[in-house]
Formats: sequence, structure tokens, C-alpha cells
Amino acid sequence: MQKTGVIFDLDGVIVDTAKYHYLAWKNLANKLGFEFTEKHNELLKGVSRVRSLEILLGIGNIKLSEEKKQEYLVTKNEEYLGFITKMKSDEILPGALELLDTLDSLGIKYVLGSASKNAPLILKQVGIFERFTGIVDGNSVSKAKPDPEVFLIGAKKLNLPPEHCVVFEDAIAGIEAANRADMVSIGIGNEETLHEADYNFENLTEVTSDFIKKLISVKNKKKHRA
Ligand code: G6P
Ligand code: MG
Repeated sequence: MQKTGVIFDLDGVIVDTAKYHYLAWKNLANKLGFEFTEKHNELLKGVSRVRSLEILLGIGNIKLSEEKKQEYLVTKNEEYLGFITKMKSDEILPGALELLDTLDSLGIKYVLGSASKNAPLILKQVGIFERFTGIVDGNSVSKAKPDPEVFLIGAKKLNLPPEHCVVFEDAIAGIEAANRADMVSIGIGNEETLHEADYNFENLTEVTSDFIKKLISVKNKKKHRA
């Protein structure tokens, strides 16, 4: 059997932190005098913190000094930390623990590949940090998704070539990053939005152990695409 490894995005795949990001960004937008909707928030998924602020300021058509931007990045994150430090294991999304169990039972290693600098804290809060073979987060990458860097570092942590890696992602930028890394991309969420993915599922409860077994019996990504 072909050796396979898995790379998980965090926000929107394992936990739903998008709602907390949204509340914190929305408060900042309101402070700056404009509305920030849930639709706007979609644009920030998978995007780094600094880039998120740029997008938000673009929506409000607001220009700020570098100093002010730094200040708002800190206050937004402090507010976000207020939410995530209250998170517990019941905030793990349905199907995630079962999928980790399946991977464990098949001897498939997995790492995290997230743009979030808070990723280790979140995994610790929900009690699954120790299960991961490695963590690649916003502190260890210089190029954000859709650049494949985060996943290529993940492949190194798995000690596998990229084409032996499978990525679970909920963001368009993340699917593009996985495809650019020549990995198998699995979109979690809206199929239309994530149509660039090799496979699509609404959520992790749909990812069965049979699917994983079939996946690891396929030799490489080219076969998936054929
Ligand atoms: C994830 C989320 C983004 C968030 C980014 C940075 O990719 O999907 O919405 O902006 O992480 O998160 P951080 O915790 O470092 O602010
Ligand atoms: Mg995500």
C-alpha cells in the first residue's frame, strides 16, 4: 500500500473559529464606522491576519498609518483570544474526532497546516494538540495560502513527498495551495465554492473510513484527476 499522510487546515475544518474571527473583525469595523457582514467575512477565510485587516480596510475604504494598523491587529487578536481561550472539546466539528481515529487505526500520520498563529493554542484548548505529528501554523510560514508553502512544510514534517499527501481544506485559497503543491485536495463545505478540489464533502462526517482506504490505495494524484 502506498504511504499516505494527511494535512488538516484548522479553522472551518476541525473547529469553527470563523464565527469568533467575524465577531472581532466586525467590532473593529463598527469602531471605524462601517458595517462588516458575514458575506464580507467569507473573504477572510484562510487569509492571514495582516491580509485580513487589509481586506477589511478596503471594504470600509479606510486608510490607516502603519502604527494604527499594528494597534488594530493587536486589539483584534486580543478580542479573538478572549473567545478562543474559552473553547473546549465540544467545539470540535462533527466527524473530526472520528476521522482522526480512522487515520490512527490505519497508521496514517497527520499534521496541521493552518494560516493561524493561534493554531497551537486552539488545538490545546480542544484537547487534540498531542495527536498531531507536527504543526505548521502562521508563525512558521512566510508566504500565505494560496502559496503552497504551508503544505510543503507539512509534507516535510510527514517525511513524505507532496504527491503522497492529502489536504482537508474549507477555503478556496487553501484548495488552490494544495493543488499547487501537487497534493490531493479535499474540499470541506460548499461544493460550488470549492469546485477546484479533487473531492468534495459537506462536512467531515461524510468522510468514511472506506473513502480513506480507497484513497490510500490510489498511487498518486494524477490518477485521481484522470
Ligand atoms: C485562518 C483563518 C483566517 C485567519 C487566519 C489567521 O486561516 O481561516 O480567517 O485570518 O487563520 O488567524 P490568526 O489566528 O493568526 O489571526
Ligand atoms: Mg480554514
